[in-house]
Amino acid sequence: MSSKLIQAQKHVDAHRAHVNDAFRPRYHLSTPVGWLNDPNGFCAYQGQYHLFYQHHPYASVWGPMHWGHWVSRDLVHWREAPIAMAPDEAFDEGGCFSGTALEVDGSLHLMYTGVTEETVFGKSLQQQCMAESTDGITFTKWADNPVISANALPPGASPYDFRDPKLWKAENGYRAIVASRGHQHGQLLCYESTDLHSWRYQGVFLSGLGGMCECPDFFDIADRQMLFCCLMDLKADSGYPVPQPVVYALGAAGETGGFIPDAPLQMLDWGLDFYAPQTTLTLAGERVLIGWMLSPGHEMPTNALGHGWAGMMTIPRVLTVEEGRLHQRPYAGLASLRKDAVAVPARTLGNTEMLLEGASGPSIELDMTLSLADAESITLRVMENGPEYAAIGYDVATQTLYFDRSRLGYEMGTGGKPEENPVARVQVPLQDGRLRLQVFVDTCSVEIFAQDGLYTMSSLAFPRFGGQGISLAAQGTARLDACGIWSLDAIGRT
Ligand code: FRU
Repeated sequence: MSSKLIQAQKHVDAHRAHVNDAFRPRYHLSTPVGWLNDPNGFCAYQGQYHLFYQHHPYASVWGPMHWGHWVSRDLVHWREAPIAMAPDEAFDEGGCFSGTALEVDGSLHLMYTGVTEETVFGKSLQQQCMAESTDGITFTKWADNPVISANALPPGASPYDFRDPKLWKAENGYRAIVASRGHQHGQLLCYESTDLHSWRYQGVFLSGLGGMCECPDFFDIADRQMLFCCLMDLKADSGYPVPQPVVYALGAAGETGGFIPDAPLQMLDWGLDFYAPQTTLTLAGERVLIGWMLSPGHEMPTNALGHGWAGMMTIPRVLTVEEGRLHQRPYAGLASLRKDAVAVPARTLGNTEMLLEGASGPSIELDMTLSLADAESITLRVMENGPEYAAIGYDVATQTLYFDRSRLGYEMGTGGKPEENPVARVQVPLQDGRLRLQVFVDTCSVEIFAQDGLYTMSSLAFPRFGGQGISLAAQGTARLDACGIWSLDAIGRT
């Protein structure tokens, strides 16, 4: 084990008891110490799930990247595993950036981006590297790294922005797509190999992806294939609601190896904090997604407050395609965390407000169906304490669902500046006059699943006064058809 890896683990172990857990989520994965960004290497291996993450152990801000690691048997309860990789080789001493995992001949293989120190024109090269493990815990980096070097780039592609390989097993060997900054646009480049050591550039998988793209995922689903990636360096008039949207498309790989989307790219999540999602197949064959719950450019208040940690994941979600449309539903296993169930009786709300009492605590799940044909709007407040709350609202005339965190005490701005847009919005048509909302609140986050997961909104939310109130108000006449509320158990210190 390298001295950098030992030192990083010692640092985490020495500091885990000294971080401030006031905002620690109870049932979401969060870094014990330091900084977390993208999920990495999400996979099932030897009967367990593995989730790695971009980790800077030494401060609650981004820094030289290590791979943190958790292991789980049920995707709900996780155990912290030792840090899997540190930036300790010439090919990755600038950082072990994001990547994916694949089991090959019984060994767990990680393909990730090795960032060099600033050697070429004062910049760091980004190249694709491999590491391998037979127990899923201790990883050995390959001696012939980088396996896809900057020399394997097509003309016009930048060696400084070439990262986040998605590796999979193809019919005759292996494929990897890697995010790249092309001459004018972001693009995904496709490489093929028969032995994972020697790779051949195959062609452009998809181009026109902002000024640069990051963190692709690609997988089979419902007789089609699905591609995700994150767009960055977009033009001001891009029309996307956030600066770095995560987009997806259903489609299929064409004959020349490129990806042909069925339709234009669409937003994967409409919230304020969602990035770099990865998926894996569960042991039961479901496609499950976990994302990083922060959008680049936002700062978690836990850093400014000196709490010693910053960074958490979304809850796991199951992806399905039904009648050509993507649904993202909360992973069913999360129901094992439910306790203190409260069934709120059906009732009509006419220009009134009601408190939803019973279940309490900072970690709550709500599942409600409302008939809104005769309503103007509804507002569901969570984390409420006097004037402080986060609001989830629906405006019937414009069919707009929104999440508003402007009334919370802590800002999610950048560099100490107030947040420019603390409201997320998406158009959600009513179905037979009805709106179904599933809402997961966990100390500093709110995830919304609308209309059976056709629309999701993931956002952080930091109340200053620890509010736990929940209330529902209607303008016009709304009917609450069904409403369950649960307190959710903590999954223990991860
Ligand atoms: C996305 C990202 C990736 C990169 C990693 C570095 O958040 O910028 O493109 O691999 O973070 O931590």
